Amino acid sequence: MKKILILFAHPALHKSRIHSRLARAAGEVEGVTFCNLYDRYPDFFIHVPYEQKQLRVHDVLIWQHPFYWYSCPALLKEWMDLVLEHNFAYGRKGTNLHGKKALSVISTGGSEAVYTRQGFSHYSVKQFLAPFHQTARLCGMEYLPPFVVHGSHLLREEEIDRYADWYARLLTALRDNTLPTVKWQDAESINSLIP
Ligand SMILES: Cc1cc2nc3c(=O)[nH]c(=O)nc-3n(C[C@H](O)[C@H](O)[C@H](O)COP(=O)(O)O)c2cc1C
Repeated sequence: MKKILILFAHPALHKSRIHSRLARAAGEVEGVTFCNLYDRYPDFFIHVPYEQKQLRVHDVLIWQHPFYWYSCPALLKEWMDLVLEHNFAYGRKGTNLHGKKALSVISTGGSEAVYTRQGFSHYSVKQFLAPFHQTARLCGMEYLPPFVVHGSHLLREEEIDRYADWYARLLTALRDNTLPTVKWQDAESINSLIP
């Protein structure tokens, strides 16, 4: 059984429709450690040794957050800047994350059509996530395609519930190592690969 660490970043969870529901679903999956960064570090003072210890004892790292300016909310970036230190996460002696898996779990205001070459945003979500992909690679981790909830403002409650069930199934498959691996490189998102 793989141990999953979710690093969750949402600065306005009281207004959230999507992540409040996804977070609840994730918290119910056995083997998942759910870390709400804005709850834990409201002052942005990240406890680096604790965060590094958490990374050491988990097998799968998930960055879960709403898409903010085509990237992540500020506290998650701060977490990356401080926790993924030289000789811990990368560099000659920085092998602590080698062989682990990482992925992003994202919600976007824009619809799926917006995130195409012809669409308003011009690039896909996966393309926007290139810095996360390369960060994971530099740290010796395998970066899976993102789980994406598009068009968050237009989703009805029952559709959000379906995404939450879907997310719980993804976490279960990651924990039990039952995801199909063949098409990972080509897939824009992991959504369609969830059993
Ligand atoms: C500061 C800010 C920046 C945002 N940037 C983007 C963006 O770049 N692309 C996008 O599709 N939606 C963007 N949005 C919309 C959010 O992604 C959307 O409201 C969120 O995914 C909904 O999830 P929630 O219900 O959990 O808050 C932005 C929202 C805020 C407040």
